[in-house]
Amino acid sequence: MGSLRFANPTALASGVHGSSLSKVLQALKMGAGAAVTKSIGVVPREGYPDPTMVEVEGGMVNAAGLPNPGAAMFSEQLAEVEGKSLPIVVSVFGADEAEFTSAVRALDGNDFVAYELNLSCPHVSGVGIEVGHLPEEVSRVTKAVKAATGKPVFAKLSPNTERLVEVAQAAVDAGADGLTAINTVRSFPIDIVKGGPALSHGFGGLSGAAIRPIALRCVYELREQLGVPIVGCGGVGTWEDAVQFFLAGANMVQLGTSTIKRFDRFNDVNLGIISYMKRKGFAKLEDLVGRAHAR
Ligand SMILES: Cc1cc2nc3c(=O)[nH]c(=O)nc-3n(C[C@H](O)[C@H](O)[C@H](O)COP(=O)(O)O)c2cc1C
Repeated sequence: MGSLRFANPTALASGVHGSSLSKVLQALKMGAGAAVTKSIGVVPREGYPDPTMVEVEGGMVNAAGLPNPGAAMFSEQLAEVEGKSLPIVVSVFGADEAEFTSAVRALDGNDFVAYELNLSCPHVSGVGIEVGHLPEEVSRVTKAVKAATGKPVFAKLSPNTERLVEVAQAAVDAGADGLTAINTVRSFPIDIVKGGPALSHGFGGLSGAAIRPIALRCVYELREQLGVPIVGCGGVGTWEDAVQFFLAGANMVQLGTSTIKRFDRFNDVNLGIISYMKRKGFAKLEDLVGRAHAR
């Protein structure tokens, strides 16, 4: 992944298990090649009242409202992590470049390998799509974060815009070392018993198997235009799902919603990828990446 080397191409996706670091560390113990933290902002946030999650066919819709302890407190938690040089990626969010860089400055002294910029939360106004759907904003934020840290920076993209590739290009031109695609798909689940919105916030983000074809389309479109490392995310739960993302052009995959029902998936996915490569005669993962483009 550019200047980064991971033991394997599976990672825990941001936020699905809340902001505690214990799940991040557990994922690494259970065979994930990397693990992304919950998105951290400059000040603590409570998030929305319940209900914040609802199960739907093929996945779930959540509107947690980015609850997190804030960058200063999270920095203290990171400092306490035992074992150095773990492949932890810290996700940050903010309303503008000043908020992103304040969070980065508070966190940067800790031992972790990269940042993921959450430019794509579909249910928090001011910090999600308002930033991540505008190439100029994405460019400003990415440039400012790159100037504030020496660590690699991945831009996490929203599927909820027709300007996906334009936004990605703006991030890359501003210095992003790679891209993560995708965040959740903007949704509005309805509860017929209540006769209204199923979530307290109304709008939420769809995740899980239901969004995999959308995520694959996004990765495919990005790989058509861009040469940087891409992390595929959206509905990955098995090695077959992971292989689909590599063929579309991803270099690595993240698992989110699938780890709620079963956390211990990373080894199985990794072993499945290796057997598939052996069966098909691929010596290196790179030989697989982007093959769907060579039709
Ligand atoms: C409950 C929940 C919380 C999430 N929190 C975050 C977050 O804090 N930051 C972020 O970038 N993405 C967050 N996501 C999005 C996931 O990281 C991932 O992009 C998305 O769920 C698609 O992957 P999946 O289908 O494997 O879950 C969250 C998703 C869920 C379901």
